[in-house]
Amino acid sequence: MRMVDLIHKKQQNQELSQEEIEWIVQEFTKGTIPDYQMAAFNMATYFTGMTDQEVAALTLAMVNSGDQIDLSAIEGIKVDKHSTGGVGDTTTLILAPLVAACGVPVAKMSGRGLGHTGGTLDKLAAIPGFQCEFSQADFIDLVNQHQVAVVGQSGNLTPADKKLYALRDVTATVQSIPLIASSIMSKKIAAGADAIVLDVKVGDGAFMKSIEEAEQLARTMVRIGNQVGRKTLAVLSNMDQPLGNAIGNALEIHEAVQTLRGQGPKDLTDLCLILGAQMLMAAGKVTSLDEGQALLQEKIDKGEALAKFREFIEAQGGDASFIDQPDALGQAAHQIPFKAPRSGVVSHWVADLVGEAAMLLGAGRAVKEDVIDPQVGIILHAKVGDAVQEGDILATLYANQSQVDESLDRLNQALTIDDQAQEAPLIYEIIESA
Ligand code: URA
Ligand code: CA
Repeated sequence: MRMVDLIHKKQQNQELSQEEIEWIVQEFTKGTIPDYQMAAFNMATYFTGMTDQEVAALTLAMVNSGDQIDLSAIEGIKVDKHSTGGVGDTTTLILAPLVAACGVPVAKMSGRGLGHTGGTLDKLAAIPGFQCEFSQADFIDLVNQHQVAVVGQSGNLTPADKKLYALRDVTATVQSIPLIASSIMSKKIAAGADAIVLDVKVGDGAFMKSIEEAEQLARTMVRIGNQVGRKTLAVLSNMDQPLGNAIGNALEIHEAVQTLRGQGPKDLTDLCLILGAQMLMAAGKVTSLDEGQALLQEKIDKGEALAKFREFIEAQGGDASFIDQPDALGQAAHQIPFKAPRSGVVSHWVADLVGEAAMLLGAGRAVKEDVIDPQVGIILHAKVGDAVQEGDILATLYANQSQVDESLDRLNQALTIDDQAQEAPLIYEIIESA
């Protein structure tokens, strides 16, 4: 086989065979196909797309490029949840203990964030003593003992995806549905879950800006998962504005605690109940979404969800005293108010601009090497649909620097106040089959 012929074939919109796709992934991972040829192949794929067979073959070839985690030593149906990325998305921190409190094991491998705000592991790193590096055997022991563990990636999972994603990032080929779907699903499949619940974000702060695109991505991923015997479903959720009120690592830890107490922001709580109910259904714990939501709500109301969160933090070496004493996670040096420039109704809080405002304070990474400041971030006091008066405090910036003009600028750009606002739904659609 010659790579140049396969690039040409893809460029002509002809279907590649499974053998051809496997060969490309193997040779690229080994380094015998150079980046320039792979980049050309990605660009051809970007323009011509892939058939279902091609996407499935690409996904499996990437799974087979590295190790796969074997979770069979954990009893029960293991369900993973994945979000396609948004701003202020605190759902994993809430869902992991909440679903575990219902008796469904959550064995989660998580990443660090390269978005505007930190990933789940960055948020957990705000907790003194919290460990996320465990051997696979210890990871499995944690889940068997506590029904929940959230750890960093160990082992050599999907090296092909790592290499391919880095190349896509610098060749403007990230935004391709077959490439995104195979990238995400290869990692989920290699991580060993029996069932996968996907939260596909739609809107300004997401990869997918329209519902049509998000639907296509969701259907592609659901098809891949089900084809390889992992029950997969997707929820399409709104990411026009940040989720919840907190954006920032320690701030989101507190928001998770509030939500597990039943006192969290409405959008974040509602999304957690919906995703959690899907996870319980996928695990065979309940037979309807209503039953699932009722069980989750009961675990919150009885304090069992928060108790499980405490157990999870302590099991991974964290000092859980912040649950009762919020100051234990430290405070940023400055709190700066952001005020409403006029009266009216908040009609837009553009998620990625709010995310950038938080990143400029140090809550996220612009480049991989950036160091995150766990204490900084933003709390929103008004969301889309809220009526406000000129001069009302709409957000508080938590900063360790006194110069925050650039962040305030971003918030100004992010905000629109109109005479009235149309509230978009939080959930657009649930996709259970391709
Ligand atoms: N997230 C991934 O893991 N891969 C992509 O290609 C896009 C988002
Ligand atoms: Ca949040």
